Amino acid sequence: MTHPPARRTVLLATGAAALLTACGDSGGGSSGEATAGGSPGRELAKTSDVPVGGGVILGDEQIVVTQPREGDFRAFSAICTHQRCPVANVEAGTINCTCHGSRFRITDGSVTSPPATRALPERKITVEGNSIRLA
Ligand code: FES
Repeated sequence: MTHPPARRTVLLATGAAALLTACGDSGGGSSGEATAGGSPGRELAKTSDVPVGGGVILGDEQIVVTQPREGDFRAFSAICTHQRCPVANVEAGTINCTCHGSRFRITDGSVTSPPATRALPERKITVEGNSIRLA
Protein backbone atom coordinates (compact mmCIF):
# COMPACT_ATOMS: atom_id res chain seq x y z
CA MET A 1 0.00 0.00 0.00
CA THR A 2 1.52 3.38 -1.05
CA HIS A 3 0.65 6.83 0.20
CA PRO A 4 0.91 10.12 -1.71
CA PRO A 5 3.48 12.59 -0.36
CA ALA A 6 2.34 14.24 2.81
CA ARG A 7 1.03 17.79 2.36
CA ARG A 8 3.76 19.08 4.69
CA THR A 9 6.47 17.69 2.39
CA VAL A 10 5.04 19.44 -0.65
CA LEU A 11 4.81 22.78 1.15
CA LEU A 12 8.42 22.56 2.35
CA ALA A 13 9.65 21.88 -1.18
CA THR A 14 7.73 24.86 -2.52
CA GLY A 15 9.10 27.11 0.21
CA ALA A 16 12.67 26.06 -0.53
CA ALA A 17 12.24 26.89 -4.21
CA ALA A 18 10.89 30.32 -3.31
CA LEU A 19 13.87 30.97 -1.03
CA LEU A 20 16.34 29.96 -3.72
CA THR A 21 14.65 32.29 -6.18
CA ALA A 22 14.71 35.18 -3.71
CA CYS A 23 18.43 34.77 -2.97
CA GLY A 24 19.47 35.20 -6.59
CA ASP A 25 22.96 34.27 -7.70
CA SER A 26 26.45 35.48 -7.01
CA GLY A 27 27.44 35.63 -10.65
CA GLY A 28 27.72 38.59 -12.93
CA GLY A 29 24.05 39.39 -13.17
CA SER A 30 23.15 43.03 -13.20
CA SER A 31 19.47 42.77 -12.41
CA GLY A 32 18.21 45.55 -10.24
CA GLU A 33 21.47 47.37 -9.62
CA ALA A 34 20.17 50.55 -11.14
CA THR A 35 16.94 50.54 -9.19
CA ALA A 36 18.35 51.87 -5.93
CA GLY A 37 18.39 55.59 -5.49
CA GLY A 38 15.84 58.29 -5.39
CA SER A 39 14.74 61.47 -7.11
CA PRO A 40 17.39 63.81 -8.52
CA GLY A 41 17.78 66.91 -6.37
CA ARG A 42 16.43 65.20 -3.29
CA GLU A 43 18.43 65.88 -0.13
CA LEU A 44 20.11 62.74 1.16
CA ALA A 45 21.85 64.09 4.24
CA LYS A 46 23.53 67.07 5.80
CA THR A 47 27.30 67.21 5.48
CA SER A 48 27.52 67.15 9.27
CA ASP A 49 25.73 63.78 9.31
CA VAL A 50 28.64 62.08 7.54
CA PRO A 51 31.73 61.41 9.68
CA VAL A 52 35.17 62.09 8.17
CA GLY A 53 36.73 58.73 7.35
CA GLY A 54 33.35 57.03 7.58
CA GLY A 55 29.87 57.21 6.21
CA VAL A 56 26.15 56.85 6.74
CA ILE A 57 23.78 54.29 5.30
CA LEU A 58 20.48 55.71 4.08
CA GLY A 59 18.23 52.69 4.16
CA ASP A 60 15.20 54.24 2.50
CA GLU A 61 17.31 55.48 -0.41
CA GLN A 62 19.51 52.34 -0.50
CA ILE A 63 22.51 54.66 -0.68
CA VAL A 64 25.62 54.96 1.46
CA VAL A 65 27.26 58.39 1.63
CA THR A 66 30.91 58.52 2.67
CA GLN A 67 33.46 61.23 3.44
CA PRO A 68 36.93 59.71 2.96
CA ARG A 69 38.59 63.10 3.57
CA GLU A 70 37.12 66.26 5.00
CA GLY A 71 34.88 67.88 2.42
CA ASP A 72 35.18 64.96 -0.06
CA PHE A 73 31.79 63.25 -0.26
CA ARG A 74 31.02 60.09 -2.24
CA ALA A 75 27.89 57.98 -2.62
CA PHE A 76 27.36 54.36 -3.58
CA SER A 77 24.58 51.84 -3.80
CA ALA A 78 23.98 50.32 -0.36
CA ILE A 79 23.10 46.98 -1.94
CA CYS A 80 25.92 44.45 -1.79
CA THR A 81 27.03 43.20 -5.21
CA HIS A 82 27.46 39.67 -3.88
CA GLN A 83 23.89 38.54 -3.20
CA ARG A 84 22.13 41.88 -2.76
CA CYS A 85 21.94 42.18 1.01
CA PRO A 86 21.82 45.77 2.22
CA VAL A 87 25.21 46.76 3.60
CA ALA A 88 25.22 46.87 7.40
CA ASN A 89 27.74 49.44 8.57
CA VAL A 90 30.68 51.71 7.73
CA GLU A 91 33.74 51.14 9.91
CA ALA A 92 37.51 51.39 9.62
CA GLY A 93 37.44 52.80 6.11
CA THR A 94 35.16 50.19 4.60
CA ILE A 95 31.49 49.69 3.84
CA ASN A 96 30.62 46.31 5.27
CA CYS A 97 28.08 43.66 4.38
CA THR A 98 27.51 41.25 7.23
CA CYS A 99 25.61 38.66 5.18
CA HIS A 100 28.83 36.97 4.02
CA GLY A 101 31.55 39.43 5.03
CA SER A 102 32.23 41.51 1.92
CA ARG A 103 33.90 44.88 2.44
CA PHE A 104 34.13 47.88 0.08
CA ARG A 105 36.39 50.96 0.19
CA ILE A 106 34.72 54.21 1.21
CA THR A 107 36.81 56.02 -1.42
CA ASP A 108 35.57 54.27 -4.56
CA GLY A 109 33.34 51.35 -3.52
CA SER A 110 35.89 48.79 -4.71
CA VAL A 111 36.06 45.39 -3.03
CA THR A 112 38.61 44.91 -0.25
CA SER A 113 37.25 41.59 1.03
CA PRO A 114 35.32 38.95 -0.94
CA PRO A 115 33.09 37.10 -1.61
CA ALA A 116 31.83 40.12 -3.59
CA THR A 117 33.87 40.64 -6.74
CA ARG A 118 32.30 43.82 -8.07
CA ALA A 119 32.45 47.34 -6.65
CA LEU A 120 29.41 49.06 -5.24
CA PRO A 121 27.99 51.20 -8.04
CA GLU A 122 28.64 54.91 -7.50
CA ARG A 123 25.73 57.32 -7.19
CA LYS A 124 26.09 60.89 -8.41
CA ILE A 125 25.63 63.54 -5.77
CA THR A 126 26.07 67.28 -5.43
CA VAL A 127 26.97 69.21 -2.30
CA GLU A 128 25.28 72.58 -1.93
CA GLY A 129 26.28 74.35 1.26
CA ASN A 130 25.68 71.79 3.96
CA SER A 131 23.24 69.73 1.90
CA ILE A 132 24.13 66.51 0.04
CA ARG A 133 21.73 65.87 -2.81
CA LEU A 134 21.25 63.34 -5.57
CA ALA A 135 22.53 64.73 -8.87
S1 FES B 1 25.38 39.59 0.15
FE1 FES B 1 27.02 38.22 0.47
S2 FES B 1 28.58 39.48 1.29
FE2 FES B 1 26.98 40.86 0.88
